[in-house]
Amino acid sequence: MSLKAPKGTIDILPKDSAKWQFLEKTLRDICDAFQFQEIRIPVFEHTELYVRGVGETSDVVSKEMYTFNDKGDRSITLRPEGTAGVVRSFLEHGLFADSQPTKLYYLISCYRYEKPQAGRLREFRQFGVEMFGASSPAADAEVISLVKHIFDALGITNLTLNINNIGCPSCRKAYNEQLKAYLNERKDSLCETCRERLERNPMRVFDCKSEICQSLLSEAPRIYDCVCEDCHNHFSEVTSYLEEMGIAYQIDKSIVRGLDYYSRTVFEFVSNNIGAQGTVCGGGRYDYLVEELGGKPCPGIGFAMGIERLLMVLENAGITLPEQKEPQLYIAAIGKEADKKAAKIVNELRCAGIRAEKDYMERSVKAQMKYANKIKAAYTMVLGDDEIAAGEGQLKQMDTGETRQVRLEELKNMFQ
Ligand code: HAM
Repeated sequence: MSLKAPKGTIDILPKDSAKWQFLEKTLRDICDAFQFQEIRIPVFEHTELYVRGVGETSDVVSKEMYTFNDKGDRSITLRPEGTAGVVRSFLEHGLFADSQPTKLYYLISCYRYEKPQAGRLREFRQFGVEMFGASSPAADAEVISLVKHIFDALGITNLTLNINNIGCPSCRKAYNEQLKAYLNERKDSLCETCRERLERNPMRVFDCKSEICQSLLSEAPRIYDCVCEDCHNHFSEVTSYLEEMGIAYQIDKSIVRGLDYYSRTVFEFVSNNIGAQGTVCGGGRYDYLVEELGGKPCPGIGFAMGIERLLMVLENAGITLPEQKEPQLYIAAIGKEADKKAAKIVNELRCAGIRAEKDYMERSVKAQMKYANKIKAAYTMVLGDDEIAAGEGQLKQMDTGETRQVRLEELKNMFQ
């Protein structure tokens, strides 16, 4: 039997890992400039965290979680997202007691039992940030500008920022009644899941993928038009910050986001070029989540972007990322003694940070040179008894074929 990776998972192979490393470094450097610090959280948490945090009526919790009982009979869930775990950690370690805001970022794998397709995996990777303690619209703009900065740094120009205002629990209460009344009139045409959603959390009907339910929603009242004055003012300040910062946006009243914790500002960066799963990044405010998870009231805002989707956008735009750097020098040895000497020289060069390589396959010198060519070594040197006796060898530049005599102890200086 040949074993295959589980459906919806991918291997990041050596030929691609330099791209991931480059992306991760870019993200870390930008976080550094924005003064966000990394947080690393567990891959699994108590299931209750997500049920309370992400919300029982969300698709993520009701359908997509990898949940199991551990050997101690505790219900455990593989993280479907990062926000709930970061809030749990923020509370557990008293980070709220430090001077605020707390600005955190993470690079994590997430797990959702979804139907795999292009851009939709069961194990995927997210880069996300969470900013706690700041309720000001400037914080919303800061977080959005960080995303914009990432796309600019990578040369991505074709994503649209869609933004909406979904109000606070008090304005949403009145809105939910309106939406419920609207949907009740069309109840018979709704799918079974939406009929249930209608009773428990009518805004979740917006998450439905059925075309019929979506078409029924086309005339539905929108929360954007029903928010209270404070929420309205907050949003208009956010947009005025964005305008001041030169960040283009579109108001999209249909965005509700699939997770229950959001309030006021929600946003998505969307691509039209990578298929049905075009949302590269999603986020928003969650001013009630910290309290929901047992803390004192503390506002929060953040986003997460799917790294696999980000790579799809880059590929689609023809933006190439760096590949693994090739060896600077390959030493081809003739015979056992020379091989030991080559091992010593290569070791010294590597200690000096030089990308040096040699043979480990007991190949002939001819085969070693062929291999050096294949791995695109910039320079090669053949090391035999004569070279060892003379203490020098011929350094060959592979692209031009140029050679020069170099003393072995001088090799290091040639690459620094
Ligand atoms: P989300 O919209 O569920 O939000 O996910 C954020 C991003 O993760 C999506 O825009 C997408 O790029 C990627 N993503 C989600 N599911 C998959 C999947 N099955 N396969 C591949 N990529 C996927 C959150 O997770 C929130 N925690 C974001 C947030 C942070 N809000 C506030 N702070």
